[in-house]
Amino acid sequence: MDKLLITGKKNLKGDINVHGSKNAALPILVSSLLSSEDLTLSNIPNVDDINNMIKLLNGYGAVIKKNKKLITINNKNIKNISADYDIVRKMRASVLILGPLLSRFGYSRISLPGGCAIGTRPIDIHLNGLEKLGVNFKIENGFVIGKVSKKLIGNRIKLPFPSVGATENILMASILAKGETVIQKAAMEPEIEDLGKCLISMGAKIEGLGTDKIYIQGVDSLCKAKHTIIPDRIVAGTFIILAVMLNTDIKIKSLNSDHLGSLIKILKNMGANIDVKKNLIKIKTSKSLKGIKVVTEPYPGFPTDLQAQLMSLMTIVSGKSEIKETVFENRFMHVPELNRLGAKIKLHKDKALIKGNQKFRGAQVMASDLRASVSLVLAALCCEGQTVINRVYHLDRGYEKIEKYLGNLGAKIKRIKS
Ligand code: UD1
Repeated sequence: MDKLLITGKKNLKGDINVHGSKNAALPILVSSLLSSEDLTLSNIPNVDDINNMIKLLNGYGAVIKKNKKLITINNKNIKNISADYDIVRKMRASVLILGPLLSRFGYSRISLPGGCAIGTRPIDIHLNGLEKLGVNFKIENGFVIGKVSKKLIGNRIKLPFPSVGATENILMASILAKGETVIQKAAMEPEIEDLGKCLISMGAKIEGLGTDKIYIQGVDSLCKAKHTIIPDRIVAGTFIILAVMLNTDIKIKSLNSDHLGSLIKILKNMGANIDVKKNLIKIKTSKSLKGIKVVTEPYPGFPTDLQAQLMSLMTIVSGKSEIKETVFENRFMHVPELNRLGAKIKLHKDKALIKGNQKFRGAQVMASDLRASVSLVLAALCCEGQTVINRVYHLDRGYEKIEKYLGNLGAKIKRIKS
């Protein structure tokens, strides 16, 4: 497994571009299963989760032409409707294939992601919603098997929690269903809006995108379409937090600042000097930064996917900070690793209490998940000395070659292959 060797306290400056959104591209790639016509996508990020999704779709018989960030995908001849266990096990987003396959073919079989029991977390909201459209599910040998007797039929579905994945799954399933579907208490993340816009360009009838009530009128089939994936707001947010931590002039380009409202507000309240334009954010040096209390929430609240990175920043500003995590249980795996680098963070149930004014110092650390990994990269770049981050494959799932991107700013990051 690759490692990153990072030498901190380098003078970073310059411009950095944000790549396309992984979390928008994943469901959009899956949505191609709804159609037998070509779907051409641009700004596809070159990250491992996307490459795994492409492998999964290939396994179904998808014909995919890839040229750098442009992909054309055709799903006319789907030959196989059972998902590859190894890929589903690695990637939770694989569960999204249920919706389109059940909608188009009336049958789907995927292995339970992560071995979790049905009826509880983590895919109960997906399955309950799809059942309301007429799917019958059974569990057999660790697989979820869904069947539809004739055609899915539109319904009103109120989610118990605005789950991103469940909203996407139900949205995709309802596109070819008979009649109207209404998703209430839907998630409002920009990635869902992007999926909806792509589906509309394919001929779907959707209203209410970006709100918590989405209306879908079923259609019989979809047509050829082109779509450009939105910039990755979590990657953009990560670079913004890094620039604030380094207290240096950095321009972050090719982003959509409308998607970063909660982060910008928090950083400004902490004292950061940020100049915000629609597609560009300039971070300038600031006099002093102070701690703050933050709660993670579904969009438009502060994203759980930026929680670990913000915690790195909170460690080096003055005063105390607090983060309450309300979206995921147990999403504090970065805390012991940040503490190894010199942070003073205590956990109390769903809250992390962060003591400010600390200095990071280089050490050996272990990356535990995607966003936890990048919080360690941020801390390491502000460290005295060298840090070795082990198991960086998590990072490659969602960030394009981070050593190259940050290397362009002057960061000293070396990948050690193993
Ligand atoms: C998506 C994002 C992920 C982000 C998360 C929350 C993708 C590929 N991933 O994940 O990066 O952190 O949104 O913004 O887009 N839950 C259930 N039952 C369900 C579904 C979810 O209990 O059927 C729970 C989950 O365990 C979690 C919470 O709901 O505690 C949020 O999950 P959800 O919004 O579904 O996140 P994902 O779609 O998995």
